[in-house]
Amino acid sequence: MSDEIASKWNSRYAYSGKPLPPAAKVLTQSERWLPQGESLTALDLACGRAANAHWLAARGFQVSAWDISQTVIDEINSRQSAVFTDVQVRDVEQNPPEPNSFDVIVVARFLDRALCPAIQAALKPGGVLFYQTFTHGLSNPEYLLAGNELLRLFKGLHILEYHEPDPDENGKAEARLVAKRPKHQ
Ligand SMILES: C[S@@+](CC[C@H](N)C(=O)[O-])C[C@H]1O[C@@H](n2cnc3c(N)ncnc32)[C@H](O)[C@@H]1O
Repeated sequence: MSDEIASKWNSRYAYSGKPLPPAAKVLTQSERWLPQGESLTALDLACGRAANAHWLAARGFQVSAWDISQTVIDEINSRQSAVFTDVQVRDVEQNPPEPNSFDVIVVARFLDRALCPAIQAALKPGGVLFYQTFTHGLSNPEYLLAGNELLRLFKGLHILEYHEPDPDENGKAEARLVAKRPKHQ
């Protein structure tokens, strides 16, 4: 199954030469919740072309960028390897992040419900999760969030912000969650 997923994404990323997409709204519209301090670590999980990783690196984070697609990781390495602390081809279902390892985790347009407890545990105490993915507009319903589902998936975190807008003119909509791991947990 992982090989199939990797191969599907490798062909989608067969390099298009397009400019990087903008960072996800869950970051750009909720920047005030970023933890402040020295040497903070951030993970862009299932990073794709790593637009979110770039945005975090530009704000001083030591960023890890992980994706299952060798093609997209090769593209990142050829483009800007020096910017990130750690760039990996990594199947996060098989090899999730370690507990207590990041001050910030961003997940955009990726949904694996079984991984959510590991994502939550991978935040350091006081760490912040920025999560954004679709509620409407994908053909495979397995990848669509139900109403308030992000709130349920991350119920162990302290919710800082949650948005669940109506679908746009193309029938697409994405929920956005910003949530913090309590310091004593
Ligand atoms: C829709 S793209 C989103 C990419 C990026 N987060 C963004 O918002 O632009 C989904 C990404 O998930 C990656 N992916 C899918 N399954 C994965 C897995 N098991 N482990 C790591 N990455 C995975 C794909 O390679 C793809 O880059």
